[in-house]
Amino acid sequence: MSHLIAPSLLSADFANLGKDVEMLNNSQADWLHLDIMDGLFVPNISFGFPIIKSVKKMTQKPLDVHLMIVDPDRYLEEFVKAGADIITVHYEAVNHLHRSIHAIKDLGCKAGVVLNPHTSVSLLENIIADLDVVLLMSVNPGYGGQKFIENTFDKIKALKELILKKNSKALIEIDGGVGTHNIKQLVEAGADVLVAGNAVFGSENPTKTIELLKSF
Ligand code: DX5
Ligand code: ZN
Repeated sequence: MSHLIAPSLLSADFANLGKDVEMLNNSQADWLHLDIMDGLFVPNISFGFPIIKSVKKMTQKPLDVHLMIVDPDRYLEEFVKAGADIITVHYEAVNHLHRSIHAIKDLGCKAGVVLNPHTSVSLLENIIADLDVVLLMSVNPGYGGQKFIENTFDKIKALKELILKKNSKALIEIDGGVGTHNIKQLVEAGADVLVAGNAVFGSENPTKTIELLKSF
């Protein structure tokens, strides 16, 4: 399988969101990445259900909903109703990860775990076989446009080993500071899904940039 590109709407123009979603629909984007922030788990607040519902009405592409919120269990059903196809929860934000992951799956969604830059891949040893996705944060979550943390490469290596050891089908997703300067290296290291916010929406021609990110 060639790698997937998931543009992050966090860097889109919210006054012209329809236009940006239309652009993504006509691009080679594989998933649309939606960053949900509550101002508690991360310092920033982003957007919620009305935006997800509006985006869902406009696109056939899978919605990859990244929950940067405290105790996400409270809202899983509502995120699925709003249109999520993939839901990822932070290891650092839940008390009973196994329960959360299976709650997402029971709602008919693909389920994943997100690890902050400081959280070790080895903590996933007893859940990896149940996961559809592992999202490695390559910046501290909260903002777009931050600098990629190089230690992520070591984590991809460790995660690949764990996935093989446990015969897991989990995809490796990387989020933060991804762009044309490092995507080739990331794909070679084993990344399956690459999130890109600033690299896409901060570029002169986002459609072309997505095409370029796909081509590596
Ligand atoms: C950060 C978010 C990212 C963000 C990535 O907390 O999880 O998805 O939008 O943005 P870039 O690609 O600009 O680093
Ligand atoms: Zn994200």
